[in-house]
Amino acid sequence: MAAGVTCSFSSAVFFLLLLNCILFVSTNVDEVIDDGDENDRALGPSGYMKREYSAIKPFVGGTSMQFWEMKGDSLLTDDYIRLTPDQQSKSGAVWNTLPVMVRDWEVHVHFKVQGQNTRFFGDGFAFWYTKDRSELGPVFGAKDYHDGLSIFFDTYANQNGEHSHEHPYISAQINNGTTHYDHDKDGTHSALAGCTAHFRGVDAETHVAIRYLGSRKRLTVQHDMDDENKWAECFDRYGVELPTGYFLGFSSQTGDLSDNHDLISVKFYELASNDAEDDPAQYLNIQPKADGAEPERDHSEDDKVYTRKDRALNWFLGIVLVLIAIALLGFFYYQKMQRDNMKRFY
Ligand SMILES: *[C@@H]1O[C@H](CO)[C@@H](O)[C@H](O)[C@H]1NC(C)=O
Repeated sequence: MAAGVTCSFSSAVFFLLLLNCILFVSTNVDEVIDDGDENDRALGPSGYMKREYSAIKPFVGGTSMQFWEMKGDSLLTDDYIRLTPDQQSKSGAVWNTLPVMVRDWEVHVHFKVQGQNTRFFGDGFAFWYTKDRSELGPVFGAKDYHDGLSIFFDTYANQNGEHSHEHPYISAQINNGTTHYDHDKDGTHSALAGCTAHFRGVDAETHVAIRYLGSRKRLTVQHDMDDENKWAECFDRYGVELPTGYFLGFSSQTGDLSDNHDLISVKFYELASNDAEDDPAQYLNIQPKADGAEPERDHSEDDKVYTRKDRALNWFLGIVLVLIAIALLGFFYYQKMQRDNMKRFY
């Protein structure tokens, strides 16, 4: 009898330990995932602003800006940088003059696109992180076959067909200098990712946040179009490789259709890198490329990867063990009651 009790007792303890162990594993998994998602929080100025890569008021001087070069029809007022005025056939750009020696960064752009005509307008503007400070050209006011990252803020839908999407549209492209941007197709065949965002002709202040984590090969674009002071996701992609040492720029072009394309502020933040000890100069020779992977998969080698399936299985095992433990405890309790009852009767 005594042996039986000990045995039952120790198997109960064993199951509780096992249960504990499983639950512990589950929490551990969650911790790992939380770690991995640390950067998933809404973008905010989590780093510190680098003045030399930023353009903020007051734009002293009126005709020139320290660290920035104006090109074409762009002009500077007290309150904004106008890439193009609301007139036909204008091209303008503004380029930062210093190569970006930061591996993990985030740019917040406060901009305004509006014009006289409420039905016909165009064409939009582009953000660049490229090898060269482009001369004026046909792709949103910059040269084709760029080398680096471009993000297009396209207000005019050139294409009506299979790949058409609602405009205005924000899209990103990674190019190593070999891919042609096909404006007649809105670049849809070469786009990495994108989203529709109503930034044109709205009363609200319009903002976009572009974050590139070189240490995680991750490109994220978020926007705030409703004065809500919080970011909405446009897209989030892993497998994006870009070197350090490229230049930041903005450009715009009008054709038959036009708009004012204005930058109100550009704030560049250096983010704390995973590899804080790294010298940005060692990443100067990376070839721009993107495999376009969705962020479900984490490409970073030092992070453990747990899939949804793993998590589901863990939960399933956990629940099964809880049920077994409850059943066992119930059974032992029942046995004990029976013995107590027997003691009482005999
Ligand atoms: C450039 O990109 C093209 C198309 O994506 C690719 O085929 C080519 O191998 C790339 N070249 C280099 C040097 O990475």
